Amino acid sequence: MSVVTQTVSLAPLTSVDLELLLAWRSHPDIYNYFKIQSGPLVWEEHQSFWLKRTHREDFLILLQEEDQTRKVGSINISKLNTEYPEIGVLVGELSIQGKGVGKKAVRLALNRLKELGHNKARVEINSKNHPSVRLFTTLGFVKENTTSTADWQTYVLESIP
Ligand SMILES: CC(C)(COP(=O)(O)OP(=O)(O)OC[C@H]1O[C@@H](n2cnc3c(N)ncnc32)[C@H](O)[C@@H]1OP(=O)(O)O)[C@@H](O)C(=O)NCCC(=O)NCCS
Repeated sequence: MSVVTQTVSLAPLTSVDLELLLAWRSHPDIYNYFKIQSGPLVWEEHQSFWLKRTHREDFLILLQEEDQTRKVGSINISKLNTEYPEIGVLVGELSIQGKGVGKKAVRLALNRLKELGHNKARVEINSKNHPSVRLFTTLGFVKENTTSTADWQTYVLESIP
Protein backbone atom coordinates (compact mmCIF):
# COMPACT_ATOMS: atom_id res chain seq x y z
CA MET A 1 0.00 0.00 0.00
CA SER A 2 1.42 3.39 -0.96
CA VAL A 3 1.30 6.26 1.54
CA VAL A 4 0.41 9.69 0.13
CA THR A 5 2.41 12.51 1.69
CA GLN A 6 0.15 15.40 2.72
CA THR A 7 1.41 18.84 3.67
CA VAL A 8 -0.80 21.67 4.88
CA SER A 9 0.34 25.27 4.43
CA LEU A 10 -1.20 28.76 4.44
CA ALA A 11 -0.99 31.46 1.77
CA PRO A 12 -2.48 34.96 1.87
CA LEU A 13 -6.06 35.01 0.56
CA THR A 14 -6.54 37.77 -2.01
CA SER A 15 -9.53 39.29 -3.84
CA VAL A 16 -8.97 36.72 -6.63
CA ASP A 17 -10.11 34.01 -4.18
CA LEU A 18 -13.35 35.72 -3.15
CA GLU A 19 -15.54 33.66 -5.50
CA LEU A 20 -14.11 30.43 -4.10
CA LEU A 21 -14.62 31.65 -0.55
CA LEU A 22 -18.22 32.61 -1.41
CA ALA A 23 -18.85 29.13 -2.82
CA TRP A 24 -17.39 27.39 0.25
CA ARG A 25 -19.29 29.65 2.64
CA SER A 26 -22.58 29.15 0.80
CA HIS A 27 -22.84 25.46 1.74
CA PRO A 28 -25.02 24.78 4.82
CA ASP A 29 -22.48 22.31 6.25
CA ILE A 30 -20.19 25.31 6.51
CA TYR A 31 -22.41 28.32 7.31
CA ASN A 32 -24.58 26.47 9.85
CA TYR A 33 -21.65 26.88 12.23
CA PHE A 34 -21.03 30.57 11.57
CA LYS A 35 -22.62 32.96 14.05
CA ILE A 36 -23.02 35.85 11.64
CA GLN A 37 -24.42 33.89 8.70
CA SER A 38 -27.78 32.15 8.36
CA GLY A 39 -27.95 31.40 4.60
CA PRO A 40 -25.86 31.37 1.40
CA LEU A 41 -23.58 34.40 1.14
CA VAL A 42 -24.67 37.34 -1.02
CA TRP A 43 -21.88 38.58 -3.33
CA GLU A 44 -22.34 42.31 -2.58
CA GLU A 45 -22.22 41.71 1.19
CA HIS A 46 -19.22 39.43 0.83
CA GLN A 47 -17.31 41.99 -1.23
CA SER A 48 -18.25 44.89 1.01
CA PHE A 49 -17.09 42.93 4.09
CA TRP A 50 -13.81 42.18 2.33
CA LEU A 51 -13.14 45.81 1.47
CA LYS A 52 -13.97 47.06 4.98
CA ARG A 53 -12.10 44.49 7.03
CA THR A 54 -9.43 45.81 9.42
CA HIS A 55 -7.09 44.29 12.02
CA ARG A 56 -7.47 40.94 10.28
CA GLU A 57 -5.49 38.55 8.07
CA ASP A 58 -7.09 35.92 5.80
CA PHE A 59 -5.36 32.85 4.43
CA LEU A 60 -6.09 30.02 2.05
CA ILE A 61 -5.45 26.55 3.42
CA LEU A 62 -3.35 24.71 0.85
CA LEU A 63 -3.03 20.94 0.73
CA GLN A 64 -0.07 19.42 -1.04
CA GLU A 65 -0.40 15.76 -2.01
CA GLU A 66 2.66 14.38 -3.78
CA ASP A 67 3.44 17.00 -6.46
CA GLN A 68 -0.02 18.67 -6.52
CA THR A 69 -1.16 21.56 -4.35
CA ARG A 70 -4.77 22.75 -4.14
CA LYS A 71 -6.91 25.21 -2.18
CA VAL A 72 -9.06 23.32 0.35
CA GLY A 73 -10.24 25.95 2.81
CA SER A 74 -9.62 29.24 4.54
CA ILE A 75 -8.59 30.53 7.93
CA ASN A 76 -8.50 34.02 9.37
CA ILE A 77 -7.18 35.79 12.41
CA SER A 78 -9.14 38.89 13.38
CA LYS A 79 -9.41 41.51 16.15
CA LEU A 80 -5.63 41.78 15.92
CA ASN A 81 -5.84 45.06 17.84
CA THR A 82 -7.08 43.22 20.96
CA GLU A 83 -5.50 41.01 23.62
CA TYR A 84 -7.47 37.98 22.38
CA PRO A 85 -7.40 37.78 18.56
CA GLU A 86 -10.06 35.47 17.11
CA ILE A 87 -9.63 32.53 14.79
CA GLY A 88 -12.13 31.50 12.10
CA VAL A 89 -11.58 28.38 10.03
CA LEU A 90 -13.31 26.28 7.39
CA VAL A 91 -12.35 23.24 5.36
CA GLY A 92 -14.35 23.93 2.20
CA GLU A 93 -13.55 20.68 0.43
CA LEU A 94 -16.13 18.73 2.44
CA SER A 95 -14.88 15.26 1.53
CA ILE A 96 -11.57 15.85 3.31
CA GLN A 97 -13.02 17.11 6.58
CA GLY A 98 -12.03 15.01 9.57
CA LYS A 99 -8.60 14.17 8.15
CA GLY A 100 -6.49 16.55 10.21
CA VAL A 101 -6.32 19.48 7.78
CA GLY A 102 -8.30 21.91 9.99
CA LYS A 103 -6.17 21.19 13.03
CA LYS A 104 -2.91 21.67 11.12
CA ALA A 105 -4.22 24.96 9.70
CA VAL A 106 -5.12 26.23 13.19
CA ARG A 107 -1.61 25.34 14.41
CA LEU A 108 -0.18 27.42 11.55
CA ALA A 109 -2.54 30.32 12.36
CA LEU A 110 -1.37 30.20 15.99
CA ASN A 111 2.23 30.37 14.74
CA ARG A 112 1.30 33.46 12.73
CA LEU A 113 -0.29 35.06 15.83
CA LYS A 114 2.91 34.42 17.74
CA GLU A 115 4.94 35.92 14.93
CA LEU A 116 2.78 39.06 15.25
CA GLY A 117 3.57 39.21 18.98
CA HIS A 118 0.35 37.72 20.34
CA ASN A 119 0.24 35.14 23.11
CA LYS A 120 -3.51 34.54 23.45
CA ALA A 121 -6.36 33.55 21.15
CA ARG A 122 -10.12 33.15 21.21
CA VAL A 123 -12.76 31.31 19.22
CA GLU A 124 -16.55 31.18 19.37
CA ILE A 125 -17.98 27.75 18.67
CA ASN A 126 -21.53 26.51 18.24
CA SER A 127 -22.11 23.89 20.95
CA LYS A 128 -23.29 21.37 18.31
CA ASN A 129 -20.06 21.74 16.33
CA HIS A 130 -18.30 18.70 17.84
CA PRO A 131 -15.37 18.56 15.37
CA SER A 132 -14.57 22.21 16.09
CA VAL A 133 -14.87 21.81 19.87
CA ARG A 134 -12.59 18.78 19.66
CA LEU A 135 -10.12 20.58 17.39
CA PHE A 136 -9.71 23.62 19.63
CA THR A 137 -9.81 21.85 23.02
CA THR A 138 -7.13 19.38 21.94
CA LEU A 139 -4.98 22.41 21.09
CA GLY A 140 -5.38 23.73 24.66
CA PHE A 141 -8.37 26.08 24.29
CA VAL A 142 -10.58 26.17 27.40
CA LYS A 143 -14.26 27.08 27.63
CA GLU A 144 -14.86 30.51 29.11
CA ASN A 145 -18.03 30.15 31.20
CA THR A 146 -18.81 33.81 31.69
CA THR A 147 -19.44 34.68 28.02
CA SER A 148 -20.96 31.39 26.91
CA THR A 149 -24.62 30.78 26.08
CA ALA A 150 -26.35 27.44 25.47
CA ASP A 151 -25.77 27.73 21.70
CA TRP A 152 -22.48 29.59 21.48
CA GLN A 153 -19.45 29.07 23.61
CA THR A 154 -16.25 31.04 23.80
CA TYR A 155 -12.98 29.17 24.11
CA VAL A 156 -9.70 30.85 24.98
CA LEU A 157 -6.06 29.89 24.77
CA GLU A 158 -4.11 31.76 27.45
CA SER A 159 -0.65 30.96 26.14
CA ILE A 160 0.12 30.03 22.54
CA PRO A 161 2.72 27.25 22.67
C1 LIG B 1 -14.35 22.52 12.07
C2 LIG B 1 -13.43 22.15 10.93
C3 LIG B 1 -12.60 23.37 10.51
C4 LIG B 1 -12.48 21.04 11.42
O1 LIG B 1 -11.54 20.74 10.39
P1 LIG B 1 -11.27 19.22 10.00
O2 LIG B 1 -10.13 19.18 9.08
O3 LIG B 1 -12.55 18.62 9.57
O4 LIG B 1 -10.90 18.63 11.45
P2 LIG B 1 -9.66 17.71 11.85
O5 LIG B 1 -9.65 16.53 10.96
O6 LIG B 1 -8.45 18.54 11.92
O7 LIG B 1 -10.14 17.20 13.28
C5 LIG B 1 -10.04 17.97 14.44
C6 LIG B 1 -10.42 17.12 15.62
O8 LIG B 1 -11.84 16.86 15.57
C7 LIG B 1 -12.08 15.46 15.60
N1 LIG B 1 -13.25 15.22 14.75
C8 LIG B 1 -13.31 15.24 13.40
N2 LIG B 1 -14.56 14.98 12.99
C9 LIG B 1 -15.29 14.80 14.12
C10 LIG B 1 -16.67 14.52 14.39
N3 LIG B 1 -17.54 14.38 13.39
N4 LIG B 1 -17.07 14.44 15.68
C11 LIG B 1 -16.21 14.61 16.70
N5 LIG B 1 -14.88 14.88 16.52
C12 LIG B 1 -14.45 14.98 15.25
C13 LIG B 1 -10.83 14.82 15.06
O9 LIG B 1 -10.70 13.51 15.53
C14 LIG B 1 -9.77 15.75 15.60
O10 LIG B 1 -9.43 15.44 16.94
P3 LIG B 1 -8.06 14.66 17.27
O11 LIG B 1 -6.95 15.52 16.73
O12 LIG B 1 -8.08 14.54 18.72
O13 LIG B 1 -8.17 13.35 16.53
C15 LIG B 1 -14.22 21.61 9.70
O14 LIG B 1 -14.96 20.48 10.10
C16 LIG B 1 -15.13 22.65 9.07
O15 LIG B 1 -14.72 23.36 8.15
N6 LIG B 1 -16.38 22.74 9.54
C17 LIG B 1 -17.35 23.72 9.00
C18 LIG B 1 -16.99 25.15 9.36
C19 LIG B 1 -16.73 25.29 10.85
O16 LIG B 1 -17.44 24.70 11.65
N7 LIG B 1 -15.72 26.08 11.22
C20 LIG B 1 -15.34 26.30 12.61
C21 LIG B 1 -16.12 27.42 13.22
S1 LIG B 1 -15.60 27.64 14.92
